[in-house]
Amino acid sequence: MIQLRNIQFGYGSRLIFDDLNLKIENGERIGLLGSNGCGKTTLCHIIMGLLPPKSGDVEILGKKRTKEYDFSEIRGRIGFLFQDSDDQLFCPTVIEDVAFGPLNMGQSPEQAKRTVARTLASLKLSGFEDRITYKLSGGEKRLVSLATVLAMNPEFLILDEPTSGLDEKTTERLIETLKESGLGYMIISHDRDFIKRTVTKLIQMKDGRIQAAEWNSLEM
Ligand SMILES: Nc1ncnc2c1ncn2[C@@H]1O[C@H](COP(=O)(O)OP(=O)(O)O)[C@@H](O)[C@H]1O
Ligand SMILES: [Mg+2]
Repeated sequence: MIQLRNIQFGYGSRLIFDDLNLKIENGERIGLLGSNGCGKTTLCHIIMGLLPPKSGDVEILGKKRTKEYDFSEIRGRIGFLFQDSDDQLFCPTVIEDVAFGPLNMGQSPEQAKRTVARTLASLKLSGFEDRITYKLSGGEKRLVSLATVLAMNPEFLILDEPTSGLDEKTTERLIETLKESGLGYMIISHDRDFIKRTVTKLIQMKDGRIQAAEWNSLEM
């Protein structure tokens, strides 16, 4: 599904990754751990083609990706939830944001409207269509962001700190949604209980590299 080889990346002259390698198989449910500032979000952005590595290979869905065109092809298929919802939501209303992906993928306005209604209902957000995006609470923005991702019917999810700003009830709803989705995903989270309940494999980022992590590292 996703394979990174010998990735080198830095912001300016400051190197974040010198030789990063990562392999994710179809259907895997992975938790990515790592301390603040170690490069987890940067890694997601490299996978999604939002940041170009200095060197190394990014292979996604069986094809090496280098150009913007290569990545635009995967953006609907790999659903990415940004760490900051304000990076995800850019339309005035919820319906416009959630319909954006489906319309872009060729659905008619009628189809897109049905997709929006179905997706919002699955997250218990029915009736949110005409809400003003920037006036939503942090938790509501998080769920609407997830709706924009799920509306594209992705094959795999990458979720960057999905529970930040969510209350317990909403976190439970997210856990149920993920479990029932049947999808593979990689989740970045510091919420140990959430990680325990949603993933079957743990990895961690340390000194710019990915390594296996032990479940008891969640007990700390
Ligand atoms: N746009 C940027 N320009 C310069 N430095 C950045 C930028 N984005 C992130 N960084 C730095 O790169 C490091 C990794 O950041 P990030 O990937 O956001 O870490 P994490 O998601 O693991 O907390 C941090 O030290 C951060 O300050
Ligand atoms: Mg981050």
